[in-house]
Amino acid sequence: MRDFLKRLPKAELHLHIEGTLEPELMMALADRNGVNLPYASEDEVRAAYDFEDLQSFLDLYFQGMSVLRTERDFHDLAMDYFQRAHAEGVVHVEMHVDPQAHLARGVSLQAVMEGLGQARRRAERELDMSSAMIMAFLRDKPADEAMQLLESAAPYWETLDAVGLDSAELGHPPSGFAEVFQRARDLGLSRVAHAGEEGPPAYIREALDMLDVCRVDHGVRCLEDPALVERLREQGTVLTVCPLSNLRLKVVDRLDDHPLPQMLEAGLTLTLNSDDPAYFGGGMLENFEACHRAFGWSRDTFRDLARNAIDAAFMSDARRGELVGRLEACT
Ligand code: HPA
Ligand code: ZN
Repeated sequence: MRDFLKRLPKAELHLHIEGTLEPELMMALADRNGVNLPYASEDEVRAAYDFEDLQSFLDLYFQGMSVLRTERDFHDLAMDYFQRAHAEGVVHVEMHVDPQAHLARGVSLQAVMEGLGQARRRAERELDMSSAMIMAFLRDKPADEAMQLLESAAPYWETLDAVGLDSAELGHPPSGFAEVFQRARDLGLSRVAHAGEEGPPAYIREALDMLDVCRVDHGVRCLEDPALVERLREQGTVLTVCPLSNLRLKVVDRLDDHPLPQMLEAGLTLTLNSDDPAYFGGGMLENFEACHRAFGWSRDTFRDLARNAIDAAFMSDARRGELVGRLEACT
């Protein structure tokens, strides 16, 4: 099964590029940039990754990314990830990026976007890996700041596929970002938002109604609201589910208790994703394998889930056709 899951052409729709920063690169960049980290070794970094909830993860996620300072750092971060993902059979990556977290540290938007852009072009050339870019707004910061970011990103609008909404969910409902998402829509950008990870089903409704999202990131708490499940099923709204993330952030106590099987049973359109692979114990292949161990799914189920991701991805029709062909040939 591992061999099949590895060969399966996988598209990753829910990934935070800053969450791909492995302890080895974190320490190397800390050295290169003279940044102090409260860790003496990679093992100490890993030992600190014992999270209670989303916030306890976010604290270390923002601390970890403090080593990213230059265009070259962002290039190295993304290239390091593309290579690892490629080795796991990932053929397309849609990366969230959190510019506000970098601007707040005095890093320019140019360094972030040019560095990531260079890596994306290299991955396309050298690894035949396509990618998309989702500029995320930090929902625990004011909506005004998100609007300023979107406007200041004008030189990069062409390179963006969508805007997203991430960071601390509880107490920060989607409704506060209606105006900036409307502006993104006017600019021709697609919209996605994290909702229903720790927050209630009402946040998923708000993301649909007020942000006009085409996908909901996580969305696992939708099951608490049967009418919402029916709406998501009927509309075919894609939920980008992240099993190992949900486990490590204690959204579920054990993977066996994860609502994925019920969500499938309910007819929802789901994809499997890694979220922050450096922090949650593995990339796409590990997430697929963990689901196989927990739920015993067949090859057909995994092929369906991988197909959902290719169908929902921000990519050209030509690329989609090519990847569907490769998926169908994978038995
Ligand atoms: N949820 C919200 N914000 C995030 C996450 C997540 O899982 N990962 C990185 N930022
Ligand atoms: Zn996420």
